[in-house]
Amino acid sequence: MSILFIQGSPVEPSRSAALSGFVAAEIQRRGIDNSRLKLTDLPAQALLNAKFGDPQIRIASDRVAGAAAIVIATPVYKAAYSGLLKSFLDLLPQNGLEGKVVLPLATAGSPHHALALDYALRPVLQSMSPSLVLPGVHATDATVGKSDTGDYVLSAEIIDRLAQATDRLIYEYRALLARRPEPAVDPVPFDQVRCSV
Ligand SMILES: Cc1cc2nc3c(=O)[nH]c(=O)nc-3n(C[C@H](O)[C@H](O)[C@H](O)COP(=O)(O)O)c2cc1C
Repeated sequence: MSILFIQGSPVEPSRSAALSGFVAAEIQRRGIDNSRLKLTDLPAQALLNAKFGDPQIRIASDRVAGAAAIVIATPVYKAAYSGLLKSFLDLLPQNGLEGKVVLPLATAGSPHHALALDYALRPVLQSMSPSLVLPGVHATDATVGKSDTGDYVLSAEIIDRLAQATDRLIYEYRALLARRPEPAVDPVPFDQVRCSV
């Protein structure tokens, strides 16, 4: 059981992916199994035409099913989240986040839609039966600058908030794994049970 990072921006390079990258690096540093799902790698026609049976959509959906925790990064688009992310979420099963911990991350041009994660994305995630949707991290573009080499540079304040969110994610992820029941074992037929006295 690992942590899956879903990148919901349709563009590259992506500021929201930079937030996700910070969390992923920290998760990696702590030796927790993780992987990344870039939604732009999925076939656009399958996403737009709701092709549940498309092989790549199935694989992506299985990867979500197989993860214990999900980090979802998206840009704020029109006071909500990206259409690409919605197209993908629409193709997951109704309870596709059942039992999982979810951390939402977003970047936006302005602080005006800072609550978009809470009023737009959170209800959708919540409808998919997660164990817990953690408080999200919203960052404005001004706090995710670009270096001379073209890399994104996070402000100290955003690094601090992401570090706190990562600590909480790891705590909840480990708690969730600890609560998981042992896999069921077929009982030994009664006539084969031998007791030594
Ligand atoms: C189509 C579109 C719609 C956007 N809508 C908003 C918006 O409603 N509010 C906002 O604060 N920023 C908005 N932005 C700015 C992006 O959220 C912002 O630049 C974000 O950091 C982009 O993230 P990305 O680089 O991961 O794609 C919009 C940008 C685009 C391209």
